[in-house]
Amino acid sequence: MGSGIAHVFALGGFDVNLVDSSKDALEKALSSIKKNLAKQVKKETISTEEADISIARVGAETTIDSSINSQLVIEAVYEKKEVKEKILRELDSLCPSETVLATNTSSISISDLASCTNRSDKVIGMHFFNPVPIMKLVEVVRSIDTSDETFQTAIDFGKALGKKTVGAKDTPGFIVNVLLVPYLLDAVRQLENGLASAEEIDAAMVFGCGHPMGPLTLLDFVGLDTTLYIADIMYEEFKTVHYAAPPLLRRYVNAGYNGKKAGRGIYDYAAK
Ligand code: 3HC
Repeated sequence: MGSGIAHVFALGGFDVNLVDSSKDALEKALSSIKKNLAKQVKKETISTEEADISIARVGAETTIDSSINSQLVIEAVYEKKEVKEKILRELDSLCPSETVLATNTSSISISDLASCTNRSDKVIGMHFFNPVPIMKLVEVVRSIDTSDETFQTAIDFGKALGKKTVGAKDTPGFIVNVLLVPYLLDAVRQLENGLASAEEIDAAMVFGCGHPMGPLTLLDFVGLDTTLYIADIMYEEFKTVHYAAPPLLRRYVNAGYNGKKAGRGIYDYAAK
């Protein structure tokens, strides 16, 4: 998600500083931005010149203090509250008081995350969707303490990227995941119940409902671990069967079948 977010900001005309503690991760991110810009050139949605200018706008640093001069910092570390809090605390102590701190969390409460900083009025959720360069939506989520000015800043950035922005309340799953995750969980439940094969379930939703991907392919794409994590957070909050992860999903994740990124999820990508 981090490289996708850097990609769209650079393409939107902003200088971007990509930060990761791992040099390897940064190299991988830069090469994936190049590869994805090239796909857009090939599809003729951008020119070669725009791609070249965009990649030149992306810096890569291994230390978080390189964020000090940014107007907006978006954290996109993995979906663990303690890790996100640690990053936000560090950013809060480093960045000038006017810097807006955004989080790309898909399920953790923005109010909870904001409370570990001394600028809760300047903390906001900016939730992007995979693949970030293609999916047009950004959910902008304000905590109970986010100021109108911060909300407007996030909306303005989203619009400058050419995204559709929607405001959402600070409840787990926001708008999209509260509707999407139960659908994905149901698809696994039906697979577990033997309703049909994975291929048949996916084909049914692609050819019957016009979805770009079937739910099980989408699950592999989003990540089984990420989906399970979001489902558990929503279940914890709402305590309804809607959000209860089916045992098969947990078994896949425990086995390391985390989806396309792991080479194995519902489908086996190594075999393909
Ligand atoms: N940047 C990044 N990835 C790109 C890209 C670009 N510019 N252009 C294409 N891709 C990726 C696709 O993901 C896929 O990856 P691969 O080549 O590595 O296998 C490949 O390129 C396919 O490209 P195609 O040109 O064939 O693209 P398609 O026209 O088939 O569209 C798709 C692919 C846009 C992913 C489409 O299938 C789709 O819309 N799927 C649904 C995606 C979706 O629902 N996303 C939301 C997930 S929920 C979420 O993110 C929230 C989180 O909190 C869980």
